[in-house]
Amino acid sequence: MGTNPVMDKSMTTTESDLNTAATTSVTQPDDRDQLTLEQIAACDNFKSEIHDSLYQETSIINVKDFNLWYGTKQALFNINMPIAEGQVTALVGPSGCGKSTLLRSVNRINDLIDGLHIGGDMLLNGTSIYDKSVDVIELRKRMGMVFQKPNPFPMSIFENVVYSLRIDGERNKGVLEEVCERSLRGAALWDEVKDRIHESALGLSGGQQQRLCIARAIAAEPEVLLMDEPCSALDPIATGKIEDLVEELRGEYTILMVTHNMQQASRASNYTAFMYLGRLVEYGPTRDIFTNPHLRPTEDYISGRFG
Ligand SMILES: Nc1ncnc2c1ncn2[C@@H]1O[C@H](COP(=O)(O)OP(=O)(O)O)[C@@H](O)[C@H]1O
Ligand SMILES: [Mg+2]
Repeated sequence: MGTNPVMDKSMTTTESDLNTAATTSVTQPDDRDQLTLEQIAACDNFKSEIHDSLYQETSIINVKDFNLWYGTKQALFNINMPIAEGQVTALVGPSGCGKSTLLRSVNRINDLIDGLHIGGDMLLNGTSIYDKSVDVIELRKRMGMVFQKPNPFPMSIFENVVYSLRIDGERNKGVLEEVCERSLRGAALWDEVKDRIHESALGLSGGQQQRLCIARAIAAEPEVLLMDEPCSALDPIATGKIEDLVEELRGEYTILMVTHNMQQASRASNYTAFMYLGRLVEYGPTRDIFTNPHLRPTEDYISGRFG
């Protein structure tokens, strides 16, 4: 932490046009039924197909006209996306379509990348995430992050879980123990580790380590949990446990989860957003996206015809 990339909130269309001068900006066809992937990919300001029911939800995060460039390469194009509070939202789409980039923009972990530029904004409970006055460390505390590969710290299970409280200077043993037990129970790990919480976390299995990372994230009482393919390094049994856990956490937490596993998205999420080449193509209730998508490209992807 410490690099200070250009976060130009005032980036104008002119600048973005410059960056994408090589591509002709194509206006999208009026007939959405005929829309093709090629047309979506050629469109810099593609208007996503967002199902009405999303607007009936209370949104905790609101992505507004969000664009992102790695150097001169644009990775996200004009994303507009409300994230429903207390629900599980899955981000799906072929590898390289920008799922992780979008997720990592929410807690500004991308800030650490040299040459990164953004345009537009994201709001958390109505307040800009990208405003110059935002304390990024505080912001990240409000959002727990779980990565693809479990990353327990080389310390005991107990110290992993209470890490954020230690950082905040909490010393009361009773408080720490209580939070530890509650978080481990919340992450469906307590029964498996209660007799060895002072042993190294590195001795746990991969699946247990991932649930430990979830326990560590929820111990900080975040407003949002961000998960980037949390099961991709796990075997099917451990994956099932994480999926059950996501289901249990729903309601209590807002979860935004990247997955390339279609079954996982359909099992574990309430809403699904389908992305393609940096565009948000279609976004709606998971059941509708999987059984009755509005756009042909969504249907093609969901049914495994490409990607
Ligand atoms: N740190 C980076 N520097 C440059 N380009 C990147 C970086 N991270 C991702 N990209 C590019 O941005 C695009 C989106 O990547 P990513 O968000 O990782 O996709 P996904 O998670 O959907 O597989 C890809 O073309 C990828 O190569
Ligand atoms: Mg990714």
